[in-house]
Amino acid sequence: MHTTRRISPASAISGSLSLPGDKSISHRYALIGAIAEGDTRIINYSTGADCHSTLGCVRALGIEVEGAGTEFTIHGKGLDGLRAPAHDLDAGNSGSTIRMLSGILAGQSFPARIFGDESLSRRPMQRVMKPLGQMGARIGAREGQFPPLHIEGGKLRAIDYTLPVPSAQVKTCILFAGLYAEGQTTITEPVRSRDHTEIALREFGADLSVERRRITIAGRPRLEGRELVVPADLSSAAFFLVAALLVPGSQLSILGVGLNPTRSALLDFLVGMGARIRVPNLESRSGELIGDLEVEYSALRGGTIEGGLTAALIDEIPVLAVLGAATEEGLTVRDAGELRIKETDRIRTMVDNLRRMGVEAEELPDGMVIPGRQKFHAAELDSCGDHRIAMACAVAALRGDGESVIQGADAASVSFPEFWDTLARCTLFRGQAT
Ligand code: S3P
Repeated sequence: MHTTRRISPASAISGSLSLPGDKSISHRYALIGAIAEGDTRIINYSTGADCHSTLGCVRALGIEVEGAGTEFTIHGKGLDGLRAPAHDLDAGNSGSTIRMLSGILAGQSFPARIFGDESLSRRPMQRVMKPLGQMGARIGAREGQFPPLHIEGGKLRAIDYTLPVPSAQVKTCILFAGLYAEGQTTITEPVRSRDHTEIALREFGADLSVERRRITIAGRPRLEGRELVVPADLSSAAFFLVAALLVPGSQLSILGVGLNPTRSALLDFLVGMGARIRVPNLESRSGELIGDLEVEYSALRGGTIEGGLTAALIDEIPVLAVLGAATEEGLTVRDAGELRIKETDRIRTMVDNLRRMGVEAEELPDGMVIPGRQKFHAAELDSCGDHRIAMACAVAALRGDGESVIQGADAASVSFPEFWDTLARCTLFRGQAT
């Protein structure tokens, strides 16, 4: 399916939104629930296709999953309760599913094959193959590095591993394998990445300690099923935050958003550029920080994203690139080579789409430079099948001088199937009566 969406310029973004559950947290709750003992009830589970790929794999591994919509109960059977799948496991478009699940498969006594769609089949997997190999798993891959992965696990040894690139998916993969190893597995991160796995594993009862950038997990814990509520996804909220900051006259609230400090650098970055954002009703639930966001249109200075900040904002850079063009001084992104191996090469796809709108954007090997004070012209844009590019293009189109067309708009449903309806609900389009 390749749908096209037409987006007219907006005169304001307003209202109060509740967004779907966090994608990162949903994957983790479902996977840990599957290897915990007893029932795990997950409320506000992500509606995105990626998180449903994870549920599909969990079911194929013999775990009963009940529920529909946003509420699921995983009938976990403990660390050794999975059974050999009758068919290959399908990770769809989801890098999180294939990389995180590989850590669990490495600890099983049966072999399994896991594959993905065309985009996932081009994404590098050595980053999980290497540490899992050191732990004792045997993993075959197409051309030695791409999915499908053929994983022959078994008895694993604990390792002390330093991640060569910041990646929460790889960290999670090793932590999951560490659950199956004898002794203590330790991981050192080059910069701190999102820590939802550490928080969730502790909630389920794992023995895990964190000392700055070093995380240690003890093997063979007893994990116990529990009830969890997934906060709204800050990376999905980012599209609406940026839309409100871009369109004069906007005033928007987003409710119950996950504000884990390893994710919320986005807010500090925006506030640092002059964004008027308030965060009322902060609370902690199951170890995760949650709050509402209130944002108003703001004139922004512009800024630079580099070093550790790049890793912290990695999923938000496409939509921040759009925002950068409307700031006073523009936006520079560096140290973002990882963007080239996401669902698409997001440096290339973003620069291409911005240029289609007549927006000047320079492509760097590891980033981009987007001068400020630019105008957006209506254009035909293309998601290239990437959910975050589809949504970033839609936000850019709100500032266009006429109707823009977004090809491959359906890609948004990988993380946010309700995106287009939500956008229509909170946008007053120019020429539309109030
Ligand atoms: C994710 C980690 C990040 C991020 C992805 C989700 C996670 O990927 O880009 O959307 O849930 O752990 P990397 O681990 O490749 O940095």
